[in-house]
Amino acid sequence: EKVVLAYSGGLDTSVILTWLKETYGYDVIAVCVNVGQEDDFEEVKKKALATGAVDAYAVDVVEEFITEYIYPTLKAGAVYEDDYLLGTSFARPLIAKKLVEIAEKEGAVAIAHGATGKGNDQVRFEATIKALNPRLKIIAPWRIWSLKSREDCIDYAQKHNIPITVTKNKIYSRDQNIWHISHEGGNLENPWNEHDESIYMMSVAPQDAPDEPTYIEIEFEKGIPVKINGEKYDPVTMLTILNKIAGENGVGTIDIIENRLVGMKSRGIYETPGGTVLFKAHKALEKLTLDRDTLSFKKIVAEKYAQLVYDGLWYTPLREALSKFVDHTQECVTGKVKMKLYKGNCVAVASVSPYSLYNEEFVTFGEDDVYNQKDAEGFINLFALPLTIRAIMNEKKIKE
Ligand code: ARG
Ligand code: SIN
Repeated sequence: EKVVLAYSGGLDTSVILTWLKETYGYDVIAVCVNVGQEDDFEEVKKKALATGAVDAYAVDVVEEFITEYIYPTLKAGAVYEDDYLLGTSFARPLIAKKLVEIAEKEGAVAIAHGATGKGNDQVRFEATIKALNPRLKIIAPWRIWSLKSREDCIDYAQKHNIPITVTKNKIYSRDQNIWHISHEGGNLENPWNEHDESIYMMSVAPQDAPDEPTYIEIEFEKGIPVKINGEKYDPVTMLTILNKIAGENGVGTIDIIENRLVGMKSRGIYETPGGTVLFKAHKALEKLTLDRDTLSFKKIVAEKYAQLVYDGLWYTPLREALSKFVDHTQECVTGKVKMKLYKGNCVAVASVSPYSLYNEEFVTFGEDDVYNQKDAEGFINLFALPLTIRAIMNEKKIKE
């Protein structure tokens, strides 16, 4: 029987590969899903085969990741607990979808992954597998075997002649894709420890950024970024360019405590350089083009959307329905935003749209003949009528 393993080429998944063979006698198909992490995928495949996989896949889904997962979340404005741009969260359902597709194609009976029993990732992988193919068995070795630590894994690898590149003190648990990189564990586990800025991989520390601001113009069409500085790019190139520019300016790093779905709080450093610029630019354009009620209702949707994504509930009727709502609101979110990046800061300094609801003729403090200020008096009389009525009642009560 065959099992599909979510394989990275790292220590854990190399050990899992061998463990699956020895424990269950499975033929292991190693699958490495490329969501933009910086890896040599040919090497990863080779390593899987050398470790004993019967077959190895590397599937490039970077563009699909951006257009089908990142853009819908960007349009929704979904941010988990006010800070986290969900970089790991929305990659998991896509990775799991690919695992399911390959399992079905190969006639595998099970899918295995290397997420621990303490985290969110296990939930995201498994919720997706259950949603897409409830007949597939799921194997999460970290919840089964007796290995407890990295050191245990190294021992296991040595005993079983598993080829590993032992970096004895791999300090952080990291997860990277084209949207972000996360760093957890190590000395970050004590929240009183200030994080060491040498941790950064996609960005520089703000004080090391250029002394001159960098300006970028981002053009959106229906809520989706299509041009930078007037130049059209495909989604992958565009995000790569934005990551570079924003990273060089120290934009998009956060250091937060978050609530994991499984109940505990955890501390993480996230670098989301290009994504941070896109979120801020998109928000600025919505302020120009969306009416007050839509904007405020959309905030409620964003909150819920973020929680669904964080919790791994991508393939649910509610997430899909909210996306439809969001898409409708984006019909007029077309236009240009000028962003100013400077030493870790990123602000929208100018915006323009053919659908702008901003009307200088109406708002001007100068003279105008479109707005009759006398109208405001009647408006306020009725708007404040409940206040007036209550005040009259209070007066009467005091006299009694
Ligand atoms: N805490 C973040 C999240 O839940 C990042 C998790 C990173 N995962 C990892 N296997 N290192 O989305
Ligand atoms: C893991 O346990 O695999 C990493 C942390 C997480 O999933 O939240």
